[in-house]
Amino acid sequence: MSRARCWRGAGGAFLGLLLCGVGILVAALLLRTFTLPSNRVIWQGPAVAEVVFTSEERQLLKRALVGAVRIPTVSVSEEEQNYTALAEFGEYIRKVFPRVFSSSIIKHEVVAEFSHLFTVQGADQSLKPYMILAHLDVVPAPPEGWDVPPFSGEERDGYIYGRGTLDDKSCVIGVLQALELMLKRGYKPKRSFYIGLGHDEEVSGHNGAMKIVERLQSRGVKLLFVLDEGLAVLDGVIQGVKRPVALIGTTEKGSITLNLTVNQPPGHSSMPPEETSIGILSAAVSRLERNPLPNMFGVGPEASMFEQLAGEFAFPLNVMMANLWLFSPIISRVLERTPSSNAIVRTTTAITIFNAGVKSNVIPRMARATVNFRIHPGQTVTEVLDIVRNTISDERVEISVLNSFDPLPISPFDESNFGYQTLQRTIHSVFSAAPVAPGVCIGNTDSRHFVNLTDSIYRFSPFKMKSEDLSR
Ligand SMILES: *[C@@H]1O[C@H](CO)[C@@H](O)[C@H](O)[C@H]1NC(C)=O
Ligand SMILES: *[C@@H]1O[C@H](CO)[C@@H](O)[C@H](O)[C@H]1NC(C)=O
Ligand SMILES: *[C@@H]1O[C@H](CO)[C@@H](O)[C@H](O)[C@H]1NC(C)=O
Ligand SMILES: [Zn+2]
Repeated sequence: MSRARCWRGAGGAFLGLLLCGVGILVAALLLRTFTLPSNRVIWQGPAVAEVVFTSEERQLLKRALVGAVRIPTVSVSEEEQNYTALAEFGEYIRKVFPRVFSSSIIKHEVVAEFSHLFTVQGADQSLKPYMILAHLDVVPAPPEGWDVPPFSGEERDGYIYGRGTLDDKSCVIGVLQALELMLKRGYKPKRSFYIGLGHDEEVSGHNGAMKIVERLQSRGVKLLFVLDEGLAVLDGVIQGVKRPVALIGTTEKGSITLNLTVNQPPGHSSMPPEETSIGILSAAVSRLERNPLPNMFGVGPEASMFEQLAGEFAFPLNVMMANLWLFSPIISRVLERTPSSNAIVRTTTAITIFNAGVKSNVIPRMARATVNFRIHPGQTVTEVLDIVRNTISDERVEISVLNSFDPLPISPFDESNFGYQTLQRTIHSVFSAAPVAPGVCIGNTDSRHFVNLTDSIYRFSPFKMKSEDLSR
């Protein structure tokens, strides 16, 4: 995920809400609270294979990850990536996972020079295949702030540290190592599946994931579901929830980046006009900050998340979460008070660049600012642009769109959805029955390029994250 961020709740503040006078409704509410469907194991489909590793296999897995972290596959921009490291990574996985590369049921293809596509042939060709994604590149690692050198893969207190351990080499190595070990045990899947490893996720996925999509599309492939990196098992991250809970990203926010430009006649500071380009632009930018886009709580999957996790909150939050029909106005207002939870209830506005002027006695002709909006799943690029134009409401401010994309469609997460339920079951079996709920990814992943191949895209990384891990 590009600078992955997980959602952090604002539950502490909920306690104050008790004062809102719930009185006689309590009985009805409690009834609803305790009759909400439990989200413990409900899927009755195929069982999840029990995973038992020998200690020797665990060592292999660890060494494979350390070796991967040591290859500095840094992406700086679409134009600047470490291609030497990406090529080295290709050689590395061939060496470390020999069965994957020699199995008669697996076809391996290099896509766009550095990305990898594996097709694992299932026994039953009538079953629709699924796909697992991960990416090889990492964001740059400035030397400051590291306890160990970022590309050392050093182990401390039972943890491996380094750039890419979380994002996303654990997933790359996890998937390949799992396949390698299953092949060793004579594994032959019934359902075919693909593994896609992109090489430029951190800088767009235009060369990696998108080329993989083109190749699959040219073959007429449709996918049952796609699994990519994303949310995780959150342990003590959502305030008010004690047990670890797993969130599966069922959508991603969209994004628009705008340049706002004001051009006014230049002049000398001794005879200033009433309004300068800087003044006009500042006022516009300030209007944007003072008039945030509307709170959309209840429109996206964030409401389902609270509803499904209701039983994990202590009283009275459990009652409130289970009764969003009544409490969502209050809950949505509490959520918007913390930047991290505000980000899940609305399209956010961030002024990121502001440029004007070069000399202390010259009034500049041009002032320009860049603003980035992350779009809530309940809105579109067009709707956000309309609102922004209305808010700025000044023709002297020229608005140009640098780039934009709509939020991703919300993937199904009902009880009959094969992909979601298989994931839920797998998570239960690996993470001691942690409750599973749908969530919103605030960052973006390679999986967004797959929308035309499936309606079921899930974003989940199998890590247990505590709040102190989020800043990592
Ligand atoms: C690119 O990766 C190679 C290893 O494959 C490494 O030796 C080199 O220092 C890296 N280049 C940069 C600019 O980090
Ligand atoms: C947008 O504005 C920023 C900040 O002033 C500037 O650096 C960038 O070149 C502008 N981009 C375009 C396409 O105008
Ligand atoms: C999906 O298909 C539509 C219609 O053909 C196309 O406009 C869009 O760019 C495609 N999206 C992706 C991510 O490939
Ligand atoms: Zn990532």
